[in-house]
Amino acid sequence: RLAVQRLATRGFALAGDPLARLATAPWRYDPYPIYAGLRAHGVHRSRFGFHTVATYDLCSRILRDRTFGVRTRDGLEPPPATQSPLPMATAVIPTFLEQDPPDHTRLRALARPAFSPRKIENYREVVRKTTSRLLDDAMAKGTFDLIADFAAPLPIAVISDLLGIPDVDTERFARYGRVLGASLDGTTTLRQARALRAATVDLQALFRSLIAVRRATPGDDVISALVHSLDAGELTELELVTTCELLLIAGFETTANLIGNGMWTFAQHPEQWELLRADPSMALGAVEEVLRYESPIQLTQRITHADSVIGDVEIPADRMVIVALGSTGRDPGAYSDPDTFDISRTPERDHLGFSSGIHYCLGAPLARMEAEIALSALAERLPAVRVLRRPRWRSTTVIRGLRSLPMRS
Ligand code: HEM
Repeated sequence: RLAVQRLATRGFALAGDPLARLATAPWRYDPYPIYAGLRAHGVHRSRFGFHTVATYDLCSRILRDRTFGVRTRDGLEPPPATQSPLPMATAVIPTFLEQDPPDHTRLRALARPAFSPRKIENYREVVRKTTSRLLDDAMAKGTFDLIADFAAPLPIAVISDLLGIPDVDTERFARYGRVLGASLDGTTTLRQARALRAATVDLQALFRSLIAVRRATPGDDVISALVHSLDAGELTELELVTTCELLLIAGFETTANLIGNGMWTFAQHPEQWELLRADPSMALGAVEEVLRYESPIQLTQRITHADSVIGDVEIPADRMVIVALGSTGRDPGAYSDPDTFDISRTPERDHLGFSSGIHYCLGAPLARMEAEIALSALAERLPAVRVLRRPRWRSTTVIRGLRSLPMRS
């Protein structure tokens, strides 16, 4: 099956499918011309049986339309790799991100209280302290890797604290984040499949032992609340474990890449860095602008639950539609001067970096706060964003982020 997937992906690339080209150089470095081509199609129909939408209006409409789900109508996972150049959502664990109502509604409601803006506000001090500690250590080195030394460990430390996970092995969690993040593109090699399996087995063991500890001594944390719901029969033990995994992993790569993509963008726009340095309170606006301009999540997918008409294209039920979130921020139909990075802009509409509709990112308040504190702390300490060499982008297509960003303090 893996070999078939790999061949299928290569075949799509050879056939010039725009989505498969996204995974190849030079498009991995600059996917935006491909997105512009997709937007011009309205609905792009691949001859391999799936559709792609890339304009702001169509993406926003599909994400909010309840006749589109994340599984087929009989509850199966999305069609396999052979129907898509990006065999997305082949994650081993079906979390509530990969569930339709009513299961999605039930599980999301159980996790939601832990991520209310009020609860998240309590974490501001933890985020500030962690940011300071990591930046002190990184900058003491003189040259440092913004990703490995700062952007990756920050969200790991924060969410581990929020979930009450003791003795966190940051390196190990960062590796799991990368493995699970890359799996969103589909698992195309045996090595990836093994790494994914090992990460899943390890995380399940970690959460099963934490659940036992919280049952014996409940606290004021998310896991204790979910154990209470388990005992009340509101979810199964497997659902509890997969929910914990989702909460742990969903913010690792995404938040790290938001900070990394942001700093690389600032390196290319020094006048914008000057603006932020002059007024660090612009950090929140800067975070929104990075989410519009270089979003960490570029693609998601939906499945038609009924025969549908999008634009003037008829799509039968149970077909996959790829929603190019990363394209929407650059849509001239939605934003003026969309290719200009401007942290002082007043955007015409909300970006779709956190998606929209019932799967809108649950961790958005936390991600915003972490990135705001990170960017303002960096702006206070760094007179200029001095990048040592041109960074390489990760080879993933769903997740957009840098492998490393070597910098001088
Ligand atoms: C869902 C982006 C940080 C938890 C999503 C989705 C996107 C997204 C695009 C929806 C995907 C879809 O509609 O198919 C991001 C970005 C982040 C970020 C760009 C950082 C910059 C976080 C954090 C957490 C988190 C910090 C929590 C700790 C979740 C959860 C869902 C989700 C639980 C599933 C929501 C649902 O299915 O109802 N995120 N996310 N995210 N995110 Fe985030």
